[in-house]
Amino acid sequence: MKTRIEMQGRGLMTLHDLTDSEFLSVIDLADELKLRKRKGVRGNLLERKNIALVFEKMSTRTRCAAAVAAADEGGRTEYLSAREIHLGGKESVIDTARVLGRMFDGILFRGYKQATVENLQKYAGVPVWNGLTDDWHPTQVLADLMTVREAFGKLKGLKLVYIGDGRNNVANSLMVGCAKAGMNYVNCTPHELSPLPDLVAAAEEIAAGNKCEVSIVHNPESAVVGANVIYTDVWVSMGEESKFSERLRLLRPYQVNMRMLERTGNLDKKQVIFLHCLPAFHDKNTEVTSDIGALEVTNDVFEASFSRVFDEAENRVHTIKALFVAALASENGKGHRQRRNNARRKK
Ligand code: CP
Ligand code: NVA
Repeated sequence: MKTRIEMQGRGLMTLHDLTDSEFLSVIDLADELKLRKRKGVRGNLLERKNIALVFEKMSTRTRCAAAVAAADEGGRTEYLSAREIHLGGKESVIDTARVLGRMFDGILFRGYKQATVENLQKYAGVPVWNGLTDDWHPTQVLADLMTVREAFGKLKGLKLVYIGDGRNNVANSLMVGCAKAGMNYVNCTPHELSPLPDLVAAAEEIAAGNKCEVSIVHNPESAVVGANVIYTDVWVSMGEESKFSERLRLLRPYQVNMRMLERTGNLDKKQVIFLHCLPAFHDKNTEVTSDIGALEVTNDVFEASFSRVFDEAENRVHTIKALFVAALASENGKGHRQRRNNARRKK
C-alpha cells in the first residue's frame, strides 16, 4: 500500500486517539483499499489474523463491515454476542479481555459503557476498536468524512450541520472528526440535548488549530444556511428507548426536510449532500414508524440524488479495514503479535 501509517498495534477508543494527520491518513488508506477492492485484488494483508467482534448492542453495518473487511484481506472474525459469552456476567470484563487477548489479534467492541471498551483495551494486550458506545462512534465518522471527501474532493473549509440529538455518540464523534479535518461543525439541537461543555471545549481547541469552528446552536432555520453537509441520526439511540415520547416532543422541529435543504442555498449549485449513519426512520416501513411515519428525515430527502447514505454505509467497510490493516498488517511493519510475544519473553 502507498499510504504509510505508524499505527501498528493500535486500536481506537475515540477520535482523540488519532493525531489530525493520522485521522486523514486512515481515510487515505481507506480510499486506497476501496480502489484495490474495486480492481478485484484478493488481498492478504490480514492473513492469519483473527478478530473478535464483541457486541452488546444490535448492529447491521458495523458487524458486517468488520466481517467483510477482515475477509477481504484474508483475515477472519468471530462474532460474540455479549448475551452468549460471560462478559461482565459470570466473568469480569478484565478477565474476558485477558482471555480474548491470548486468542485473538484484535477485538472490535460495541456496547453501552465507554469504560467497558477501555477496560478491554487496557487488559487484552491486542488492539481494541470502539464500534460504538453510549458516548462515541469513532469508526462511523471515518466513513462519514471519507464520503464527504469523495463528494467534494476536499474537507477543509466545508460546513457540516448536524441536526437532531446533539449529545449522542455520533454527534460527539462528528464534532471531533470535523475539527481534525478543518471542517466547520454546527450542532443544531434543542437546549436540553446540547453536548457536554468539556467535550465541546476539547473539540474547539482542535478546531482553533485547524482554522475552523465548532458551534452549538438551536435554530435550524439559520443553522443550515451555507451547509455543504446536512447530517442527522436517530432521535433515540440504543439503550434510551424509554425516552421515546420526550425526544419526539423535543425534536419534531428538527426533522430534516426538503425546505431545510433548500435553505442551505447550495442545493441548485449541487454543493450540499445529506448523510445519516443509519438505521434511519424515513418512512413507515419499520415497526417503530408504521403508525407515525418519518421521524428524523423525510423520505424525499433520504431518497434524493444528493443523499449519499448508502455510499456512507459502504465506506464503513473500507475505513474499518484501514484501521485493521494499519494496526495488524505485517506489511505495515513488524506484526503486533510478534512484538507482543517479544515483550513477554523479555519479562
Ligand atoms: N451506523 C451503524 O453503526 O450501523 P449499525 O448499528 O447497523 O452497525
Ligand atoms: N446514535 C445511534 C447510532 C446508531 C448507529 C445509536 O447509538 O443508536
